[in-house]
Amino acid sequence: MNKGFPQGFLWGGATAANQCEGAYDVDGRGLANVDVVPIGEERFPIIAGQRKMFDFEEGYFYPAKESIDMYHHYKEDIALFGEMGFKTYRLSIAWSRIFPKGDELEPNEKGLEFYEKLFKECHKHGIEPLVTITHFDCPMHLIEEYGGWRNRKMLEFYERLCRTLFMRYKGLVKYWLTFNEINMILHAPFMGAGLYFEEGENQEQVKYQAAHHELVASAIATKVAHEIDPENKVGCMLAAGQYYPNTAHPRDYWAALQEDRENYFFIDVQARGEYPNYAKKKWERLGIDVEMSEEDLALLRDYTVDFISFSYYSSRVASGDPEVNEKTEGNIFASIKNPYLEASEWGWQIDPLGLRITLNAIWDRYQKPMFIVENGLGAIDTPDENGYVEDDYRIDYLRQHIAAMRDAIVEDGVELLGYTTWGCIDLVSAGTGEMKKRYGFIYVDRDNEGKGTLTRSKKKSFHWYKQVIATNGQDLG
Ligand code: BG6
Repeated sequence: MNKGFPQGFLWGGATAANQCEGAYDVDGRGLANVDVVPIGEERFPIIAGQRKMFDFEEGYFYPAKESIDMYHHYKEDIALFGEMGFKTYRLSIAWSRIFPKGDELEPNEKGLEFYEKLFKECHKHGIEPLVTITHFDCPMHLIEEYGGWRNRKMLEFYERLCRTLFMRYKGLVKYWLTFNEINMILHAPFMGAGLYFEEGENQEQVKYQAAHHELVASAIATKVAHEIDPENKVGCMLAAGQYYPNTAHPRDYWAALQEDRENYFFIDVQARGEYPNYAKKKWERLGIDVEMSEEDLALLRDYTVDFISFSYYSSRVASGDPEVNEKTEGNIFASIKNPYLEASEWGWQIDPLGLRITLNAIWDRYQKPMFIVENGLGAIDTPDENGYVEDDYRIDYLRQHIAAMRDAIVEDGVELLGYTTWGCIDLVSAGTGEMKKRYGFIYVDRDNEGKGTLTRSKKKSFHWYKQVIATNGQDLG
């Protein structure tokens, strides 16, 4: 009996364009929503579409402008990934490098060239790229001119982007994700869908209409990807983390089930091909009327995803008791605090068994191959004078999560294609805009104010992960 990870398991790491590339105005790149979210207190209201910031304003620091400048360091960075033995590297495309405004008919050749060189560099090191087409990323022009994903015209612009990528990178890329953490549209709508809300608007209505457009766009992308190259595999991407009931009280169980449905709603459509009844009933209750055509429904039905990818940082807790409201921090949306779990320095609770539970829940629901495309610990690192960090805390976190994943494969029989840790090289935090919240195996000398030499150095976890990959997960140290 197989006691370990399957042969060909795709070990690697993950990043997103806006959190690492920098070079926000180089080689014709257009301005994007992700550029204009500053570090500091106003970041969250902007991300949530409640505070309007459509351009750079005086007195703010915008960390994505330079980030860790991977645009100019990608060869060095990919060589380090290769040295760790990565089988795959998950990265995202900056839409506004390819179509600077978003609605042009012809792409920007310089942008296309950049990713072509990057993908070739990956292959040189035996690394299979895994590409997120949109990771919280939308050209500002599409937001100002069309209102972002609330507008059906976005389908046309997104399809053009996808066709351009699938044609140009045929033979270089075969794993694609359509939208990063698609359920974030409900919690971080400016990042998830370029939505800014006007006074008095029915925000739920706007969010679900935008979600419908993204879901149909995702189905079209799947269709086109398969037409252009039958080798292409297209996945959806969920910010996952199973909800636990706060107690055995039935109303807590019911609350947990409802919360899970808020998230699984998206994957129910992308993996099963139709809107679930519970969502239709909810819309009816809330007076939400999502405009959709018969053609849309046929696309959703006929072009479901090939695999399900997700990020996992923690489980969550729900309560049906309005008196229970002690919250804990988490990935964008907070949940009830779990008294049995420790937390990171940012208050995200740590639950390796929760990963096994989540893997089983998703497998039981869909029976499609899965891919964990984000998992990791954001922590403060203190480097020595050579940039070396003794990050045993990170190693511990990852070791426990990898063991839980192995249990899910070996003991429970779930089908898992691979695992990419989040922020394999230190990068800007999406939630807070900080540099000091680090996830990497590779330390980057840059701080919250943008100071530093950008020098890369290997942390202790670099050597540890290399050994994990070399032994296909047998030796977890
Ligand atoms: C996920 C995102 O939500 O979590 C990433 O896909 C993000 O973009 C990651 O960076 C970790 O969150 P944070 O806020 O610590 O950067």
